[in-house]
Amino acid sequence: MMPETQVWRTAWPQFQAFSPRSIDDVRVFFAPGRVNLIGEHTDYNGGYVLPAALTLGTWVFVRARSDGWLRFASTLFTEQISCRTDDLVYRAQDGFANYPKGALWALGQLGMSVPGADFFFAGNLPHRAGLSSSASIEMATAVAANALSDGQYDRTALVTAAKRAENEFLGVSSGIMDQFAVAMGERDRALLLDCATLAYETVPLKLEDYQFVIMNTCYQRGLAESKYNERFAQCQQALKDLQHEVSGLQYLGQISELQWGEVADAIADPVIRGRARHVILENDRTLRAAKVWKSGDARGFGQLMNESHESLRDDYEVTGHALDAIVEAAWQAPGCVGARMTGAGFGGCAVALVERSRTEPFISSVIRDYKSATGLDGQCYLAEIGDGAREVTDEVKAWL
Ligand code: GLA
Repeated sequence: MMPETQVWRTAWPQFQAFSPRSIDDVRVFFAPGRVNLIGEHTDYNGGYVLPAALTLGTWVFVRARSDGWLRFASTLFTEQISCRTDDLVYRAQDGFANYPKGALWALGQLGMSVPGADFFFAGNLPHRAGLSSSASIEMATAVAANALSDGQYDRTALVTAAKRAENEFLGVSSGIMDQFAVAMGERDRALLLDCATLAYETVPLKLEDYQFVIMNTCYQRGLAESKYNERFAQCQQALKDLQHEVSGLQYLGQISELQWGEVADAIADPVIRGRARHVILENDRTLRAAKVWKSGDARGFGQLMNESHESLRDDYEVTGHALDAIVEAAWQAPGCVGARMTGAGFGGCAVALVERSRTEPFISSVIRDYKSATGLDGQCYLAEIGDGAREVTDEVKAWL
C-alpha cells in the first residue's frame, strides 16, 4: 500500500494544477476505510456490528470558493466535475464525484448552507474492495464541508447525512456501519455498535500474538449494488412475515437465537427464511464474538469468524467463488485462527486472524492457493487500526 506521505506528495502538484493559488488557504481532511471483523448484513436489520477504522483511507485537499461553485477532481480519475452549490443532483456521467456531491446534498437537506469549494481527492484504499472507499470519500467531504461552515454539526449528524447520501442520492439501501466506523473509529480499537440505537462501546484490539490480515480477491462482481438492494428487500419481507407472529417487532435484530427456533416457520419461502436465519444468528454471533475477544480468547473469536463466513456463503449467498476461494486458502494456511469475507461481499476483501509469528508463511500460502483456485492474483495487507475522520492540515503541510 502506498504510504500516506507518498499519497500527499503525489496529490499536491496535481492539486496545485487544479486549484492554483496560495497554500495558505488550503485545508486537508482525512477519512479512513474500515474493516468489519464480524456482524455482516446485520446493520440495516437493527443488529450489532464490530468494525474498525483503518489507517488507509482518503485525503481531500480543499480550498473554499466565494462564487457558489463546487469543483471535484482526484488522482484516480482524469475527469474534473463542476456544479453549483444549488445544483447537487446525481448524474451518472459524473462518476466518482457523485459521492462527494451526495454527501454535500445530504448536508444541504440537513440545513447546511453548502460552501463553494475545490475538492481534490487522493488515497491509498483499494477502490470498491469492501473496505468502505465510498463512505471514506463521503465522510472526508462531510467533515471538510462542516469545517468550512464553522463546524455547526456534530459527528452523528454527519454520519447520518453520509448514510442518507448512499440511500437517497446513490440509491444503495446500505446501513450505517461504514459511515459510523469511518467517523468514530479509534486507534487499535474496534467498535461494537448497536445499529438500532447507535449506542456503542470500543473494544481494544491490540494483541501481542495475533495480527488481522486483509485479503483482497482483486475481483469485483458486476451488479453488486442491485444484489445488495435485493438482500435488503428480502430482509424486509422476512420482517413482514415475522411481524404476524411477534407483536411490536421492528427489526430482525430484535429476535434472539432462542426465539428464532420458535418463529422460523412463519417464513414460508425457504430462501427468505435462510436470509433471516443468517441475520439473526450473525447478530447473536457478533455479541458472543465481542465477549470472547474481550476475555482474551482469540481462538474462540476465530471460530466465530469461520461460522460467519459459512452463514454468509450458505444462507445469505453473498460470497461467490473468489471470496470462498480466498477464505478457504486462509483456512488451510499456516497460523490461521479464523477467516471470513468482510463488507457487502460478492467480491472484494476477506479478513483473517493470524498468529503473528506466522504472518509471512500465511500470506504466501494464501496468495499461492488462491491463484491456483481462481487464476487471480490476490493481495494481502496487514490491517493497522487507526482513528476516524479528522482535519490533518498541519500534519500534511509540514511534509510538503
Ligand atoms: C456494505 C454496507 C454496510 C453493510 C455491509 C454488510 O458495506 O455499506 O452498510 O450493510 O455492506 O455488512
